[in-house]
Order: sequence, then structure tokens, then C-alpha cells
Amino acid sequence: MTANGVMTEPVVIAGLLRQQAALANFGTFAFSEPELGKILTEAARVCAECLRAPFAKICRYRREQKDLLIVAGCGWRAGVIGIVISKADESSTQGRAFVTGKPVILEDVSQNGSLTLPPFYAEHKIVSTADVLIKGKTGPWGVLEVDSADRHEFNEHDVVFLTGFANVVAEAVAMAERTAAMQGAIESMKHLIVEKDALLGERAGRERKVHELQMELSHLSRLNAMGQMTAAIAHELNQPLAAITNYIGVAKLSLEVKQIDSGAILRLKALIGKIQSQTLRAGSIIKNLKDVVEKRESCRFEVNIEDVVRDSLAMVLYDVTDSNIALNFEFDSAISKVMIDKVQIQQILINLIRNSVEAMHGTKERTLTLTTLPGDAGFANVMVRDTGPGVLPNIAQRLFLPFNTTKASGMGLGLMVCQTLAEANGGRIWHVEDKEKGTCFCLSLPLAQPHAGESHSAAG
Ligand SMILES: Nc1ncnc2c1ncn2[C@@H]1O[C@H](COP(=O)(O)OP(=O)(O)O)[C@@H](O)[C@H]1O
Ligand SMILES: [Mg+2]
Repeated sequence: MTANGVMTEPVVIAGLLRQQAALANFGTFAFSEPELGKILTEAARVCAECLRAPFAKICRYRREQKDLLIVAGCGWRAGVIGIVISKADESSTQGRAFVTGKPVILEDVSQNGSLTLPPFYAEHKIVSTADVLIKGKTGPWGVLEVDSADRHEFNEHDVVFLTGFANVVAEAVAMAERTAAMQGAIESMKHLIVEKDALLGERAGRERKVHELQMELSHLSRLNAMGQMTAAIAHELNQPLAAITNYIGVAKLSLEVKQIDSGAILRLKALIGKIQSQTLRAGSIIKNLKDVVEKRESCRFEVNIEDVVRDSLAMVLYDVTDSNIALNFEFDSAISKVMIDKVQIQQILINLIRNSVEAMHGTKERTLTLTTLPGDAGFANVMVRDTGPGVLPNIAQRLFLPFNTTKASGMGLGLMVCQTLAEANGGRIWHVEDKEKGTCFCLSLPLAQPHAGESHSAAG
């Protein structure tokens, strides 16, 4: 080591230690400061101070403009930072460091004729400059420059320090960019959340609307059901009322004779009896329809099925003026007792028989066949068959639905009521698709449980 070297060594070491401390402090500052502008300004200040130079600046490369803009610095007059640009080529000190990637140290810029320096260099009487590259993620980011108005000798330690400093600045820049990107992502996320909330609000509104519509719909269907029930009641009551009107007409005729003999009185008595039974029927229809609406259990007792069928037929034929119909009974003696609500089953049979009578109105051959026969285990079947034109194909699938009618004055409720009543009695009703002409409906009804000793007495 030279004498000179021995003398300067402590100074150099002290300077290096100072630079290391400054670098460490700057690192701490840079990683806790969110604002990139402040980080760069502090970087310029610390660099100038450590290298005992009055000026420093940081230039950022602008990809689109392909130039270097002074974005931070210290010591300069106003109008330099954020404004002055230089070409990103070898015509300027920073441009040269930028394109070569190597430190550019000039002890006297005036001695370098190939440089075109911006006027503020002259204004500040800049003599010496030191430039190092600041790296970026995808390429060079910019340049860190320290300037002196005196002739300044930047030694290799200074260059190492400056390069190390530029690397820390590069890290800080990368972090700031990451933070900015993250901030951007957070912002767009916030945006999305706001949008999502708006959409959810909209959806809640739509769901409310759907709920309202559903309420409306159930209200409408309740109204519709009520309407159907009202029509069914009118339809069913019309039958006994028509019969009563007929009887009263006949009774009036009987009273219009001059002398009422005992025979006429007997006939009147009979008519009044019939009127009474139709009135009772009307009453029981109302009661039964009420039962259908309220879904109450039917009042089921053991009854003889043959009696029920005969009674039902008799009730229809009372008010069927055109009774030019041949009757056919086929009762199976093996079955007799069924467990039913008699009035309800009569109601079904009356509806079926009346439909048959109506269907045979225009046909030549008019035969109504009423049959009882064993059905599925525990059931008896009752069949009502006619020789009419048969069920029209377009209505066959919808027979038991309300308001399906092919009749001018029909309501299309008879079969719906039949089905409701059959099911209320534990039975069912269906249309028998027959190869023969005419129509056949079958009603299945639960058999009454045989009593102890009954089969014995039947055998004996
Ligand atoms: N025995 C039958 N023969 C032919 N068609 C029938 C017969 N029974 C029912 N239908 C058809 O089913 C429709 C519905 O019958 P129903 O529910 O009793 O209502 P409505 O008698 O008021 O029309 C009738 O309009 C008719 O077209
Ligand atoms: Mg009918």
C-alpha cells in the first residue's frame, strides 16, 4: 500500500460505512413508503448527500415517447423535475447509461462534444456527472444521476454505491408497481362488489315481484275453484229443481179438472211425495258438495249395491220424458254389500245414467245396461253402458276435467263430480275403452267386510 493509500484508508472506510448506513436507511424508508414519488425524491436526496454532490435526479423511461423524463431530484430550480426530457440515446449522459446499461462517469461534461445537454445543466454550472441504470421487471426502467458543479472525481466505491442504490430503487419501483397493480385490482374488485350488490338488489326486487305474482296467481286459482264449485252446485241443483217443476206442472193440470175425485187426490199425494223426495235430494246435494269442498270423510255404511243402482235409475227415469230405452240388468249375486255413502254413490250413478240417456237421444238402438261384477280384490264394480255414439275422441283424454262438454246446455262438471265422490268413497271411476259401439263407464267401490258367521248363513 502506498503512503497515500495508508493516509486515505480511514477516510474511505468512514465514507463507505456512511454510504452503507444511508443505503440501509433508505431501504427501510422505501419499503414502508407507499408513494413512489416520495421514494424517488428521497433516493435522489440520499444519493447526492452520500456522494457529497449538490444535485441528483431520477429519469424514468417512457416507452411510448421513447424518452427519459426527470421524475424526481434534488438541488434543481423549479421547472426541471417533471418537465425536462431527454432522448433515450447516447446524446445525453442519462441516455447513454440507459442504452448501454453501464455506469457513465464524466468528470467534465464540457469536454464531451458528442453530448447535447439541456440548458439547465449550464444554468447550474454542472461539471461532473455519474449515471447508473435502474432496472425494471421487463427491461430498463430509468436512470439515477448525481451531478456536481465542481469537478468531482467519482471513484469506484462511489460507482459501486450508486449501482447498489439504483438496485434498491429498482426494487422499490417494482414493489410500488405491484402495489399499484394490486390497488387497481382492489379498485376493480370494489367496483365489481358494487355491481354485484346492485344486481342482488335487482334480483331481490325481481323475487319480490315473482312472489307478488304467485300470491296473485293463488288468489286467482282460489277464485277459479270457487267459480267451479258455484257452477257445480248450480248444475247439480238444476236436476232436482227441473224434476220438481215437472211434478208441479202435472199437479196443476190435475187440479184444473172440475171435480177432484179420490183418484186425483191419490195422484196428487203421489206427486207431492215425489216433490218431497226431490227436495230432499237437492238438500243432500248441497250437503255433499259442501263435503267435497271441505274434504270431509263421507258417511259410509254397508248397503246393498243392487238397491243403490235401481234407486238411481228410478230417479233419472222420473224426469226423463223420452224413456224409450231398453233396460238391461246384470247383477252378480256373489257381491251384494258395499261400504259407501249411499247418497254420494247415487249421485255418481245418476250422472252416468243421465249422460247415457242424453247420448242415446239421437240413436236408433237405445239400450242401457247396468252391471255389477267383482272387481279387484276387495272391490265391486258397477258398469253403466249405453248404445250411443260413444265418447268423442277429442274429449276422451279430458273427460274428468271440469268444463269439458259437447252439449249446448252442458256444463262439463258431471264427471268431475263423479270422480271426486268416487275417490271420497275409497273407489274410482274410469271410462272403459270398448271395441263395441257406445260408451261404458266403470265405478269400483269397496266391498263391505264380511261379518263373522255371514258366509256360514249364506251357505246354509
Ligand atoms: N255416455 C256418454 N256417451 C258419449 N259421451 C259422453 C258420455 N258421457 C259423457 N260423455 C262426454 O263427456 C262430456 C262430459 O260429461 P259431463 O262431465 O257429464 O258433462 P256434461 O254432461 O255437462 O257435458 C259430455 O259432454 C260428453 O261429450
Ligand atoms: Mg253430464
